[in-house]
Amino acid sequence: MSHKPGIKLRDSFGSKFGVVAAAAGSAVGLGNIWKFPYITGVYGGAAFLFVYLGFILAIGLPIMLSELLIGRRSGRNAFGAFKKLAPKSAWKYIGLLGIAAAFMILSFYGVVAGWSIQYIILSIQDGFATKSPEQLNSLFTMLIESPQKPVYLQLIFMVLTGAIVIVGVKKGIEKFTKILMPILVFILLALCVKAITLPGAERGLEFLFKPDFSKLTSEGILSALGHAFFSLSLGMGTLITYGSYINRENNLLRTAVQVTAADTIIAILSGIAIFPAVFAFGIEPSSGPGLVFITLPNVFQQMPGGYIFSILFFLLLTVAALTSSISILEVVVAYFKEEFRLKRKPATIVATILISTLGIFCSLSMGVLEPYKLFGLNFFDLMDWISANMLLPLGGLFIALFVGWFLGAKKVYHEILKGGSVKRGLLYIFIFLLRFIAPIAIAIVFMDGIGLISL
Ligand code: TRP
Repeated sequence: MSHKPGIKLRDSFGSKFGVVAAAAGSAVGLGNIWKFPYITGVYGGAAFLFVYLGFILAIGLPIMLSELLIGRRSGRNAFGAFKKLAPKSAWKYIGLLGIAAAFMILSFYGVVAGWSIQYIILSIQDGFATKSPEQLNSLFTMLIESPQKPVYLQLIFMVLTGAIVIVGVKKGIEKFTKILMPILVFILLALCVKAITLPGAERGLEFLFKPDFSKLTSEGILSALGHAFFSLSLGMGTLITYGSYINRENNLLRTAVQVTAADTIIAILSGIAIFPAVFAFGIEPSSGPGLVFITLPNVFQQMPGGYIFSILFFLLLTVAALTSSISILEVVVAYFKEEFRLKRKPATIVATILISTLGIFCSLSMGVLEPYKLFGLNFFDLMDWISANMLLPLGGLFIALFVGWFLGAKKVYHEILKGGSVKRGLLYIFIFLLRFIAPIAIAIVFMDGIGLISL
């Protein structure tokens, strides 16, 4: 879209459902289907899940509403929003923190999405048939360690992401999400049915739902918090940016509740689809980033129609990743566009090239660059850890303080009530969570997680 100087002509979403679909499209992605099961497996199962759910409700939901309202009230990108609402203050640096997080997240996100593309190809070639669980394991390991293929696949994914972002919000982002999300849910449901009827499924369900809180570690709790942010697309301005495309009739509270519910349901469904199978096929629940890619092909092998299901599953996983990756890239593009007065196209191209370059290092860090580590983490895990467990919670902390204390209850209520009536009591709870619960909980979990204090 071309800009005339001085005239504010911004993109916007076309319909109410479009708003929910785009925000849910951002939230639902690899975080739900790839990362959630894998870290739940690493941190011990049900206890992790319950802590995660607690964070979603008490911290995630109020911060999601906060981001949406900051975005709509300012009508700006993640950095510009704070400049507009709090002129000549340091709040705008929250926006910069977010831009940095966007770079890091998308750099490893594109790599995982690339693996998913490879699994579409393998599905089409019937490449999982007749393979034992061990062979499926080494199939995955060989892929991610290879110095070329995952790099190409990541680049393909990033080009796709850039192409959609160039087309812009309404045509690119909204249309795409509306049709495909429901199909993904259908496939997940079918997988759940198959998984829970596998012999030995109960042990998986027990692992996922029967908590043993003695298994919780400080690191696990911090990861649950970080993942609440990651999965809901919070803490770096994605939903500020999307909020800025939402018109005044939208009921932001309802949007936030719907998006949070959809995201959480899909994560739990993924867990139900995966853990029974993990136990049925004797896979180690804590096997790490490969968990989904190793486990599900075993299930497809045994499912009637498994050939088609596996193609569709990885196709839709890739699409779910795309509707999320465009929302991450959009944060950077909106920032470049509005703060450096670039046009959408060059802004997108520059951002895509920079992020893809970082992504090449992420990809290679699973193979040839594996020996190079910082704090015991390779580059891929480092980008993931710093963004999800540090930058997003810190971003969220400042967003909560900004809306709870700086903007103040009156402006906040006014913004929320634009789109319809909301019970007073709910507004009070919202402000209370933002002022006290979220900041204190984030600060404690963060300091405990990185070892500054010990609970
Ligand atoms: N929430 C997405 C997922 O679960 C990823 C994502 C999109 C994201 N935008 C974000 C993560 C902003 C953190 C911040 O896959």
